[in-house]
Amino acid sequence: MENRSSFTGKIGFVLAAAGSAVGLGNIWRFPYLAAKYGGGIFLLVYLILAVTFGFTLMVAEIALGRKTGLSAVGAFDKLNKKFKFVGIIAAIIPSIILPYYSVIGGWVTKYLAVFITGGASTAASDTYFTDFIAKPVEPIVWFALFIGITAVVVMLGVQKGVENVSKFMMPILVVLTLVIAVYTICQPGAWEGVLYYITPDFSRFSATTVLAAMGQLFYSMSLAMGIMITYGSYMKKEVNLESSVHQIEIFDTGVAFLAGLMIIPSVFVFSGGDEAALGKGPGLMFITLPKVFDSMAGGTVIGAVFFLLVLFAAMTSSISLMETVVSIFEDKFKLGRTKTCLLVLAGCLLLGIPSSLGFGVLGNINVLGLSILDMFDFVSNSVLMPIVAFLTCIFIGYILKPQAIIEEVERSARFKSKKLFTVIIKYIAPVFIVLILVSSVLDVLGIFKI
Ligand code: PHE
Repeated sequence: MENRSSFTGKIGFVLAAAGSAVGLGNIWRFPYLAAKYGGGIFLLVYLILAVTFGFTLMVAEIALGRKTGLSAVGAFDKLNKKFKFVGIIAAIIPSIILPYYSVIGGWVTKYLAVFITGGASTAASDTYFTDFIAKPVEPIVWFALFIGITAVVVMLGVQKGVENVSKFMMPILVVLTLVIAVYTICQPGAWEGVLYYITPDFSRFSATTVLAAMGQLFYSMSLAMGIMITYGSYMKKEVNLESSVHQIEIFDTGVAFLAGLMIIPSVFVFSGGDEAALGKGPGLMFITLPKVFDSMAGGTVIGAVFFLLVLFAAMTSSISLMETVVSIFEDKFKLGRTKTCLLVLAGCLLLGIPSSLGFGVLGNINVLGLSILDMFDFVSNSVLMPIVAFLTCIFIGYILKPQAIIEEVERSARFKSKKLFTVIIKYIAPVFIVLILVSSVLDVLGIFKI
């Protein structure tokens, strides 16, 4: 086995994992899902899942990686040949996510350019965003630019550089999000939005809410797709695994919460209390935030800085996605790094184009009522990830046995939540995931609500 380089200490590990975890999932995806699925009830379900399932799975994945010193496919294969396929399904997921993730990354890049060139008020008009994404060529150019830069970074192996920049940009992003949230909350009509976001309305609880929250949790924490196994394989034995997981979790969930607090009340303020605006889906952030910036003193500059920071957060995530895809193909086909990168880039461009066109030229293509981008998102987050999560629980709960993971965690310090961990991984998570998957499949077949 090659000599794995490791992260220097706990801070290095936590920051690297947080760089992968915090991205568009927190800033773009979480708020629109929360808005769509009833606000407070979604937030509540998400938080409960984060401290139970999210915690358990992240500990499990990092420990699997650290124990074996291998990434997903190798780790499962080493521990039990029959479970190698779980690693393989996990490895497919980043290849599905990366292309459409980069389409959204392209939108962020476009908005950065618009704000830099002083177009804040144009971007704030009602149809600006929908007109933009419906164009056949322009969004593809921005998408290509975003994924092109990602590929160059991965090809040159200068991830460290980007990570270093993002390490100091990330705290600024958190502060700026907070400032924007406070500004929005002070606008007339915003309080209603805050209440919508934080008070659970139990009548809106359904299996699809839970499935959406669970998919979002996996996505946001980069779980159930092998990424944390790889990160774990670089973690030193003496680093405290359990408390690292707590820190990553707090950071990731904190950013998502603040993003929701910034975006949801602004829907109430700037859409004249029109509740339908809450269901705007993937476009929500791009529709509401320009309106907020346009109304602020110095909004053009604040908007430009904001989109720049989001771009960095998105880049660190897209880099970690591409890195994973490239290393899988590199191991398999042994073509060398540059060639593999170029092939992955070409593949992503091809796969991403339909997602981009799905909002315009290919707008009539709908699978179960979902646009092409939403469909890829649905397949990876609501179908494949729960399946991988389920199989991981079965594998650890019944084949490898939780004790093996507990021992790995305890190489550094006492595992405080080991009882919780064992009960969740053996009983609660597998049963629950199956129930949620089945009931949402029924939902899809009957009245599809996602
Ligand atoms: N967790 C990232 C986000 O929230 C997305 C991502 C998923 C990144 C998987 C890397 C791997 O944006």
